[in-house]
Amino acid sequence: MMNSFAGRAAVIEPFLAMEVLERAQEMERDGIRILHLELGEPDAAPPPSVLAACARALEAGETHYTDSRGLSELRAAIAADKSRRAAVPIDARHVLVTSGTSPAMLLVFGALIEPGDEVLIPTPHYPCYPNFVRFCGGTPVFVRADPTANDAAAAGWQIDVDAVRRARSPRTRALVLGSPANPTGAIQTAETLRALAELGIPLVADEIYDGLLFDGAHAPSALACGAPVWVLDGFSKRYAMTGFRLGYVITPDEAALRTLQVMQQSLFISASHFVQRAGIAALSGGEPTRKAMVDAYQRRRTLLVDGLRALGFRVPAPPQGGFYVFADARAFDSDSRRLAFDLLERAHVAVTPGVDFGAAGEGWLRFTLSAPDAQIEEALARIGRALGRGR
Ligand SMILES: Cc1ncc(COP(=O)(O)O)c(C=O)c1O
Repeated sequence: MMNSFAGRAAVIEPFLAMEVLERAQEMERDGIRILHLELGEPDAAPPPSVLAACARALEAGETHYTDSRGLSELRAAIAADKSRRAAVPIDARHVLVTSGTSPAMLLVFGALIEPGDEVLIPTPHYPCYPNFVRFCGGTPVFVRADPTANDAAAAGWQIDVDAVRRARSPRTRALVLGSPANPTGAIQTAETLRALAELGIPLVADEIYDGLLFDGAHAPSALACGAPVWVLDGFSKRYAMTGFRLGYVITPDEAALRTLQVMQQSLFISASHFVQRAGIAALSGGEPTRKAMVDAYQRRRTLLVDGLRALGFRVPAPPQGGFYVFADARAFDSDSRRLAFDLLERAHVAVTPGVDFGAAGEGWLRFTLSAPDAQIEEALARIGRALGRGR
């Protein structure tokens, strides 16, 4: 266990997507045109009503601290929106507004983890989960999808509940659940959620990609599965509001919410006042923006999945939600970092190495759907030429 602040900070691992981006930007400074398929943010603009509400709030002087739990109107609007999506009643008192899902994660893991506690993380996983766990003094324990189902990916990346049971120990404090997931775009079924709930392990459920779903899919919320739960969600992805920094935690456990509130009072005070007004506007008028993004991602999913398969990548389970395609690139190179940097140098296409998402992602690459169609087509052509599969 590391006790010093510097020691804790040192357990945070580099984010390879950022390293790829930083090298790409260096190349752009040398005049090279890079096609960016590595980024984790929507290419769409935020809803116009959000920008207007934010400007109005600034002009009206809404530039102060708010209640540390968030504006009551926003908490009510979040509870109503999430009740509808999760199909369970949610009380506004169970919502705490934060400056993004990331600070929400810090509050939740900070409240949950005692030094030495273990947190189960199904993998491949969003790279920051283990960093938060380690930073809070815990130990991440990775759980792979079912190794006996030869192709976990083809089985839709469902969490292997038996593997979770085996990985559990007296020190297990929580299980992290990302659904729809980054990088796989997989949705955990209601059966998987119920089976996990039966284990009685508290769930930290990251539902930030909910609402960005394909083919009319529904992503069951962990709030409906009956387990002790902390749901993390936010405005970054669903309303293209990454830079606004707005998210929230929902937990029916009122004592737990009070703990988070007390932490927020000291660590962050409150989310930004005018940004919270923008959040209210997103929930009331952001639907056309969300819908347009889903349509674009769905169209590009077909373009990218078909194009990658034609080049010899394996995409056993196209994403059901989110905005990434996770593709098996082992036909070209089993070292995803080497392949990603090679594609950057030779094809001038930036993609994220699968190993960024844990050892289970080694040999895979993550491509984003949040780039214009023409750019995706050009990237496929460039990758094909670089890999000798010229189109
Ligand atoms: C799975 C997942 N959770 C959380 C975040 C961060 O969200 P926020 O912008 O709300 O901090 C991301 C960003 O890429 C993500 O992919």
